[in-house]
Amino acid sequence: MSNYHIKNLEEYFQVYRKSVRNPENFWEEIAEEHFLWRKRWDNVLSWNFSKPEVKWFEGAKLNITENCIDRHLTTRGDKTAILFEPNNPDEEAQAISYKELHKRVNKFANVLKSKGIKKGDRVCIYLPMIPELAISLLACARIGAIHSVVFAGFSSTALATRINDSECKMVITSDGSFRGSKTIDLKSIVDEALVDCPTISDVLVVKRINSEVLMKEGRDVWIEPLLAAASDECNAEVMDAEDPLFILYTSGSTGKPKGMLHTTAGYMVYTAYTFKNVFQYKENDVYWCTADIGWITGHSYIVYGPLANGATTVMFEGVPSYPDYGRFWQIVEKHKINQFYTAPTAIRALAKEGLAHVEPHNLSSLKILGTVGEPINEEAWHWYDDNIGKRKSPIVDTWWQTETGGIMITPIPFSTPTKPTYATLPFPGIQPVLMDTEGEVVKGNQVEGKLCIQFPWPSMARTIWGNHERYKDTYFSAFENKYFTGDGALRDEVGYYRITGRVDDVIIVSGHNLGTAPIEDAINEHPAVAESAIVGFPHDIKGNALYGYVILKDTGESRNHDNLRKEINQIITEQVGPIAKLDKIQFTQGLPKTRSGKIMRRILRKIASKDISNLGDTSTLLNPEVVQGIIDEAM
Ligand code: WTA
Repeated sequence: MSNYHIKNLEEYFQVYRKSVRNPENFWEEIAEEHFLWRKRWDNVLSWNFSKPEVKWFEGAKLNITENCIDRHLTTRGDKTAILFEPNNPDEEAQAISYKELHKRVNKFANVLKSKGIKKGDRVCIYLPMIPELAISLLACARIGAIHSVVFAGFSSTALATRINDSECKMVITSDGSFRGSKTIDLKSIVDEALVDCPTISDVLVVKRINSEVLMKEGRDVWIEPLLAAASDECNAEVMDAEDPLFILYTSGSTGKPKGMLHTTAGYMVYTAYTFKNVFQYKENDVYWCTADIGWITGHSYIVYGPLANGATTVMFEGVPSYPDYGRFWQIVEKHKINQFYTAPTAIRALAKEGLAHVEPHNLSSLKILGTVGEPINEEAWHWYDDNIGKRKSPIVDTWWQTETGGIMITPIPFSTPTKPTYATLPFPGIQPVLMDTEGEVVKGNQVEGKLCIQFPWPSMARTIWGNHERYKDTYFSAFENKYFTGDGALRDEVGYYRITGRVDDVIIVSGHNLGTAPIEDAINEHPAVAESAIVGFPHDIKGNALYGYVILKDTGESRNHDNLRKEINQIITEQVGPIAKLDKIQFTQGLPKTRSGKIMRRILRKIASKDISNLGDTSTLLNPEVVQGIIDEAM
């Protein structure tokens, strides 16, 4: 028997050692015993990080939806697969059984086929957190189409960029979405985006808010009548292990977003195996991850990982503050949630509102708590532990990335002793190393460095869609033969890892990765702006907030700065989305630059954080004289 389910610390170490000593053998056992294959692999792993090229389970044939749905039909057909909790607490929750999910995915897949979608075609999904979102991912996977989900909080410009980059043929959206007390007209955002998207021929529209929307003749159709008429049988396309499953965009430190490409078999094996162990999922548990399926956390740990284990996974449409700040805890009580997985930013926001929203609720069903997306500070960790887990539910601080596909560094609950702010130990199969500035591996414990992974794991992204060179440059060029994460980390005296944050120009705001380039591009479109630079600075709830330094064009006229600030944030909202709005905007005369013309963000970051005691060496700047001026304006 493979060690699919790790139950104590000794077992963890044993399994971990095995996974490092003989990775091929280790993964082969897991793949063999826990999944449904149409054909077995010829080769477990081939890899070369300098190309880079990684292939897992080559030669195998499968369909991930048969693993996530069909194979559960005989043993747990009536079990709830997806439990949908609507935005409005007065609207009834929907329990979708595995049997029903099977039918609904098949119908949806048949609709896609009827619109000419085939294996390998890209389908953009821009939907709120309603069951059709999960179902549309699975429907794509059923027929071998590559889904590209775009978080429904992104603007039309951001949506268009992503659609065009991967040349999607179709968009699946809804008339709108409910978010707390607001409704958002998603369809009109799609309409705006599609003005510039020549590859889109069809738009399928789900009815959610019953609003009047424009339907473009020949392009847009309501999906409900098509689903009603479609057959609920649809043979799963037989996929190769390395056939693409999805593209998901993530921000880079420079340039446009990167379409990370994930493939089928490795992703399935790894997300399923991590889900089982990190959440210690047991047959009758109800598991809830509060992320949006628009992010990798939702792909891996709302949809694929849980369903591959036959779990009950909750999908919540709303926000933690509606109708009040007790909503999460009300849902935990209502559905008797056993595993609860959320982001530090949500914990901080809820902690700030006080215990009056927590205390009325019975949280005794909770067994395991999780966090993801950004470093968790000690205060938030203790608040979560004391008030939500009542010190009896271990907190799994899970470190991973869109690029890694699944959880990489994490405690195994009830096995690994937790330590606040530490993601603790690598998951079996993961070989982290810390690198110093000279490019050497940092040995021993109580050390710090840049976090790299020195051996492939099954769910790693295989490339950036359409730009393999960029994939190589971004992840495999900083250190030879290693995957570079972009994060810094320290390792304590017992070998636990603590992620200290990004070491590049990606800024994590409320758990969302934001690249500086698209935001600066948006700001620079304002007619009064000559140049701009964005940095992050610490924020109590968001973790980081955005600080913009803006140089105005010298037109001789005086401008109202408050109005300009509003206009700049308006442009950012339109071009990127409201999540990228700036908290502070400083109008300035110059930006510190290196001799090669690069903005020295390190200095700007320090000034934004009001930490000017040690700005480091500024003498190598092209224009060291601007620094004092920026400090004076800021203080
Ligand atoms: C950060 C989210 C500290 C990190 C799954 C990483 C974390 C980036 C943690 C990826 C954690 C994620 N502790 N930092 N537990 N989890 N991060 O692609 O900087 O949205 O590189 O994936 O989030 O964000 P992404």
